[in-house]
Amino acid sequence: MADGGAAARFRAEFPALADTVHLASCSQGALSGRLTYALQEIAFSLRDKGAPWEDWVAEVERARAGFARFIGAEPGEIAVLSCASEAAYQVASSMDWARRAAIVTTDLEFPSIAQVWRAQGGRGASVRVARDNGTTVTAEGYAEQIDEDVNLVSVPMALYGNGARPPVREVVELAHERGARVFVDAYQGTGVLPVDVHELGCDYLASGSLKYLLGLPGIAFLYVRAGTEHQRDPELTGWFGRRDPFSFDPRLVDFPAEARRFETGTHPIPSAYAANAGLELLAPLDMATVFEHVSTLAAELSEQLAGDGEMIASPTDAAGRGPQVAIVDQDPDALARWLARRRIVTAPRGRLLRLSLHYYSDRSDVAAVVDAIRRYRKES
Ligand SMILES: Cc1ncc(COP(=O)(O)O)c(C=O)c1O
Repeated sequence: MADGGAAARFRAEFPALADTVHLASCSQGALSGRLTYALQEIAFSLRDKGAPWEDWVAEVERARAGFARFIGAEPGEIAVLSCASEAAYQVASSMDWARRAAIVTTDLEFPSIAQVWRAQGGRGASVRVARDNGTTVTAEGYAEQIDEDVNLVSVPMALYGNGARPPVREVVELAHERGARVFVDAYQGTGVLPVDVHELGCDYLASGSLKYLLGLPGIAFLYVRAGTEHQRDPELTGWFGRRDPFSFDPRLVDFPAEARRFETGTHPIPSAYAANAGLELLAPLDMATVFEHVSTLAAELSEQLAGDGEMIASPTDAAGRGPQVAIVDQDPDALARWLARRRIVTAPRGRLLRLSLHYYSDRSDVAAVVDAIRRYRKES
């Protein structure tokens, strides 16, 4: 963690951390001063100009370009949508299942994405599940399922349950060798893991702003590799999915070549302001340095909790571990409530309590949560 104090300077951008231990970035990132300001800015734009559409459109374009830069893409390769499920749906609806019927997913995928794939059954798609070992899913698990009937392979960059990092690049290579395309759900990765879509080689990648990207709910981004052949036009559409959204021709349903073809109606403007606040904070950072910082803390947290007898549900090896450490608990909601009363914010899910790290996290956060969980166990 020898980064010359850069992480401490980053932490100072989050005044809320003065009295709160924020270990819930896998759910919602911590509140930065810049995000607070962005929310005031949208109120100011309304007070100042009444109906500031030009400012709003500019803010959406800034978010599109900012996210594109962040993942090594071009702005034309990004659709601005409202949630990752919508991104998955738009991709699915543009696939021709009569050509190749199968989608490969994993049971460790975020359920909403898997549900979108399964709902394509009505349009003729069949779903195959890559074998997992309960903690993560391997390239072999995917390889067993991918053949010439597979049209789409869906692989998460980091698992929502325990942060484990499936081998995305290997899965992309495998899928492409066998003529399938790949959708990467990077929601649990962007903002804390280095992401370069050209290095990954994926066809689609979705993420949203509220978690490690340090914005708010309501906005998501879909990367669509330039040159991707669209087997069908998407089913959801609207004026922002037109070549010229301002042509106002009710008889014209044309689709631009760029990723905007997947957009629908009015963009989530307030969330775009929030997304820009987060992207601006993250843009100057080197994501490899960020992930190194996070990995060091995650390793320490995992070792200390395991030393206290906690059951760790995340991978314990550095190669598989992501930005969070999840522990198994009988009642994670009760534990999270107990911690929240002590201003330690965590993210319970199912039988797991998720503790996620960001570049603003430090050793005092690790010490605080380890100590608090120890006390909770003694008291209960
Ligand atoms: C991996 C992953 N994908 C997607 C989502 C959210 O999907 P949506 O934006 O459709 O709510 C989450 C969490 O909320 C997630 O952890």
